[in-house]
Formats: sequence, structure tokens, C-alpha cells
Amino acid sequence: MGRLVVVSNRVPVPDKKGTAPAGGLAVALQSALEARGGLWLGWSGQSCGEDAIGPLKTLKDGNIDYALTDLTEKDVEEYYHGFANRVLWPICHYRLDLAEYGRREMAGYFRVNRFFASRLLPLIEEDDLIWIHDYHLIPLAAELRRQGVKNRIGFFLHIPWPAPDVFLTMPVHEELLTSLTAYDVIGFQTVHDRENFADCLARQGLSRRLGESRFSVGERTFTAKPYPIGIETEAFAALARRAGETTLHRRMLQSLDGKSLIIGVDRLDYSKGLTQRIDAFETFLTRHPDNQRQVTLLQITPKSRSEVPEYEAMQRAVAEQAGRVNGALGTVDWVPIRYVNRSLRRPALAGLYRMAKLALVTPLRDGMNLVAKEYIAAQNEEDPGVLLLSRFAGAAAELKEAVLVNPYDVEGTADAMARSLAMPVEERRERWKGLMATLRKNDVFVWCDGFLTDLAGATLPRIRAA
Ligand code: UDP
Ligand code: G6P
Repeated sequence: MGRLVVVSNRVPVPDKKGTAPAGGLAVALQSALEARGGLWLGWSGQSCGEDAIGPLKTLKDGNIDYALTDLTEKDVEEYYHGFANRVLWPICHYRLDLAEYGRREMAGYFRVNRFFASRLLPLIEEDDLIWIHDYHLIPLAAELRRQGVKNRIGFFLHIPWPAPDVFLTMPVHEELLTSLTAYDVIGFQTVHDRENFADCLARQGLSRRLGESRFSVGERTFTAKPYPIGIETEAFAALARRAGETTLHRRMLQSLDGKSLIIGVDRLDYSKGLTQRIDAFETFLTRHPDNQRQVTLLQITPKSRSEVPEYEAMQRAVAEQAGRVNGALGTVDWVPIRYVNRSLRRPALAGLYRMAKLALVTPLRDGMNLVAKEYIAAQNEEDPGVLLLSRFAGAAAELKEAVLVNPYDVEGTADAMARSLAMPVEERRERWKGLMATLRKNDVFVWCDGFLTDLAGATLPRIRAA
């Protein structure tokens, strides 16, 4: 197999390790690339004036060669804050009401994709496998093809693909769908996402379906298939076991003073269902008052995309809501919700997951949700905690032994919290075993191998034994 060249908007820039923004794409790709090696092109996270765009910044860290580009302030505004995060993100998460269309932003999105193509072109070698990630870069392969690139090019969508009635409301849907047909392999998180995509193609009469995963457009054929993303299951479990020896762990245990820990870990994003979750937690405490003073919800919520108005509004709303619940139910020596607006490093997270009796993973819509998988991997097999998981997270398609909830049903979610906390240890162990078997079978290396094998059109050497 040729060299692997990965392109994504977000890259965990190596000289900023530890401060890297939270997000499933960066976490999963880093694991996969560290194991396989390759080149990773993406945004440096910096913006500058029109004339100040310099050459690519190149860095090597272990097996990975990074090539980072700055973007202009106008690019960041129109492409990242604009079309990617105010149109594509809300549409793909079924929030038609939050989509803000603008011609300027749409033009900026396609312009920045052309710019990424121009940065990538000089780096491409004949046998490279090119793997492009997520909604920011949908038109990139079409741009590369226009410039004569013949390499095999794959695309993986980390977020949901919505039903046609939602996707086709987007003024630019036709261009986006057509540009996707320039890829050789298109990967989705779930069968449901792939079927929604296939329905969009069918509705627009854009391609013929040749088989379950094969489609054709004119002379070209391509694969569209689910490849559910995973985590480094064994390594994360080991991280959680080691976390028990840290000072943070001891301090946290002390501060809990015998109370059961419930944990939530989410970027501050409207797709994560935070307000519904806090409502459900309040309802749980009022409908099941025996739990008052016995539990603490630790909600870790790093800020995300704060320049986008909908996210800014969300920051205020969630902080106010947590404050209101604490004011209404808290006592002089008990705070029901500890609300933390910072990003934690993964070893610290692993230890907190292990300590928690219950994890609340209740997005209104989510591509996969790696936090759900990390929580399971971090548990102690003798006395594992319970995962309460939204049926609208991609992870619910795989993690059948979790306690599945509808996050829009606040009272139902509240009652599921009570049931989960009271669940006997035998049932917890049984569920955990099933979940852990799935995570061991489908880890991040299986995801990466599966996609690249299809992209290369041949079986590749495994990067890790399953
Ligand atoms: N994460 C982290 N520190 C935090 C919060 C989250 O490192 O303070 C990581 C978390 O461990 C997970 C990722 O960010 O690997 C979040 O991925 P997920 O798929 O759950 O959601 P996304 O943010 O991609 O929507
Ligand atoms: C989700 C998206 C990623 C993105 C991440 C963090 O996981 O699928 O593409 O990187 O959120 O968002 P950000 O806007 O900070 O990159």
C-alpha cells in the first residue's frame, strides 16, 4: 500500500498537546495514524490577513508528518464559522431551525476547499491513498479530480447524514451530493446514515445502486458503507486502571465524601442535549428524593465554537440552568451539579469515568459518541458502572446492552437514571461484558483497517491484532 495522506480541518497540533481541543475526530485519527504512519494535512487553527498566508508549517511527531496551513480571517468566518458550522452542522443534526444560509458563506466554503486542494496537490505522490475527513471538506475530492488527481480518494463523515427531507432543504444540496460522487469510498458511522445518503441520491436521480454498498454515476462506481468508529479499547482501559494512583483521583474521592458520582462529558454543543439532561437530572432528584445528597453530577463541558452565536447562547443557557438547579436543590454541604467549563486531559478523564457509577450520554443527535465507548472501557469489571445512552447517538446501534433512552423524554430519562443507579451488580456485570466484547471487536484499528482495505481495493497488513 502507498503512503497514507489524511486531510481534516481539525488537527491536534503536536506542539500544543494537552491543550488540543476536545473532539472525536482528532482523538480517533491520532490513534489510527500513530499506528499506521502517514501525512496529515489540516488547519493550523491560526487565522491571518489576506496577504499573510505563508508556506505550510511542517512538523514530525513519531510516525506522523504534519502539514498545517493557516487560513485567512475571512476564510475562517465564511467556511468554518459560516457554512460548516452554521449550515452543515445544524442540518446534519436535524436542526433546520438553526441553519443560517448565506451566499457569501457558501462561496467561502467552496473557495476554502479549492485552497485545501492547492495546498495538497504538491504533496501528493503517485501511490498515495488520500483519506479526507468530515463535513468541512466534502468538495475536496471533486477539486482534486478537476486538477487531474487520479489517486484513490476516500471520505469519512464523522457526523450523521440526515434524512432526505432534511438534507434537501439545503440550497446547495445538489453540488454537495454530486461532489461526493468523486470519491472512491464514502464512509458513514451507521447503516442508517448510509441509507439516508442513498435515499438522497435516489431522490435526486444522481446515481444507480448496484448493490448494498456499490453505486454508479456514469462511468464511475463508488462504495458507500458504514464503518463505525472506535477507540483504543485496551489502551484506554489501561489508562483508567492507572488513574487510580493519581492525586486527582484521591482528591476527587475525598471531595465526594461517599456520594455516588454521575458523569457527563461533552463539548458545549446544542446537539449534546445538555439542557434536556439537566432537566432530567432535576426531575430524577425530585421524583426520587432518596437520591438527594447521595449523588453528584460532574458535567465536564469544554467550550466549543464560541464565535458562533448559537454556541454562545448555549453557554449562557447551560450555565444558568446548572446554577438554578443547584440553587433550588443544593444544601450548605451538597452541590447537585459540578459544572466544569474546561477541557480535561484524557488520563484524568479515564480516572473520572472509572469512578462514576453512571454516565449520561444523551445527545439529541450524534454521529457516534466516543465518550460512551471510553466510559465502558474505563470500568472496573468487578463493579462496573452503567451507561445511559441516547438512542439517537450512532453508538446506540452497537452498544445494545447500554440503558437506552429518548433524551426528549425528560421523565423517562429521569426514571432510567434511578433504575440504573439501583441496578444489581450481576446485571451491571452482564451488560458491561457484552459492551466490552463489542468494543474489543470493533476498536479504532479495525475501523481504520476496514476503511483503508476498501479504499486500497485489497487486503492491507493489519496495524494491530484485533
Ligand atoms: N475529550 C477530552 N477532554 C474533554 C472532553 C472530551 O479529551 O475535556 C475527548 C473525549 O475523551 C472524546 C472526544 O473528546 O475522545 C469527544 O468525542 P465524541 O465523539 O464523544 O464527541 P465530539 O466532541 O466529537 O462531538
Ligand atoms: C466533531 C466533528 C469534528 C470536530 C469536532 C470538534 O467531532 O465531527 O470534525 O473536529 O467536533 O469541533 P471543532 O469545530 O473544534 O473542530
